[in-house]
Amino acid sequence: MIKEQLEKIRERADAFIAQADTEQALEEARIRFLGKKGELTGILRGMGALSAEERPAVGALANKIRENIEQVLAERKEALKSKGMELRLRAEKVDVTLPANGKKVGHLHPITQTRNRMVEIFTGMGFEIAEGPEVESAYYNFDALNAPADHPSRDETDTFYFSDDTLLRTQTSPVQIRSMIGRTPPIRMISPGRVYRCDVADATHSPMFHQCEGLVIDKNVTMGDLKGTLATFAKAMFGESTRVRFRPHNFPFTEPSAEVDVSCFVCGGKGCRVCKGEGWIEILGAGMVHPNVLRAGGIDPDVYSGFAFGMGIERVAMTSFGITDLRLMFDNDERFLEQF
Ligand code: PHE
Repeated sequence: MIKEQLEKIRERADAFIAQADTEQALEEARIRFLGKKGELTGILRGMGALSAEERPAVGALANKIRENIEQVLAERKEALKSKGMELRLRAEKVDVTLPANGKKVGHLHPITQTRNRMVEIFTGMGFEIAEGPEVESAYYNFDALNAPADHPSRDETDTFYFSDDTLLRTQTSPVQIRSMIGRTPPIRMISPGRVYRCDVADATHSPMFHQCEGLVIDKNVTMGDLKGTLATFAKAMFGESTRVRFRPHNFPFTEPSAEVDVSCFVCGGKGCRVCKGEGWIEILGAGMVHPNVLRAGGIDPDVYSGFAFGMGIERVAMTSFGITDLRLMFDNDERFLEQF
């Protein structure tokens, strides 16, 4: 009688466990059959009513059935585990044959590329990099650079003033003065940076643009040194066959002064679309540092001389990349930028 009951429990347990498809359902099955108040335990409690002869055999069977149920539970647990793993693997499946999420890698802006190249060329010739503020004093931007009070570049229509004596620098030339003060020559520096002028943006003007200043001061520095330096730069920047041309000009802070052109690196000087038929492209202003500027920098013009130049970085970038409208450089349209 009790043996049959035990067999029934085994059958029920087997069926129950086979249906359990979560760990929680499995635990419920364990409690139901093997727990303190479980079915098997209930039967064992009733064993007291059995005769002494029957007891060992029933006890042995009960133990066997317990072991049996425990084993079925363990097997089911394993099965659930690997099934869970399989499900997870299926859900998290990665198709390695799909095309990758392309990550776009950017690159440096054409102006930055051009500036970096300039820095590379001039540091290769022994120049240091100097820096100056974009918010500058009228003194450094004009007076110390020998620009008299009535010089047109000082006009309000040309210059962004914060007050009478503070402004957005209109050129990188104030860094000349800042580099001289407190220093004993030789001085050999370039200073790339932003400058600001009250210009309406068009194909060749922008209220903000970049210049690269250059300054060399030592004993016996001549116009020949200036020309050699710029010729070396032009060849490195635009190609070995590039020539430079000096045209007389006027700047308050240099004497003599020149505007400097490079031979068109596209047509070699014959005239083409890039140089607008000229054969030459203007890229900078330059000259021998005016004695008054040396004095403002605390340097004795009777002992030292020097040259300076100021180059338009956009001008050089547009020339070397063949860009025809300055505004494109500041629109930051990726379709434009990714071409360089
Ligand atoms: N500062 C001048 C300009 O902005 C360029 C220049 C620099 C000319 C140094 C001569 C010497 O036009």
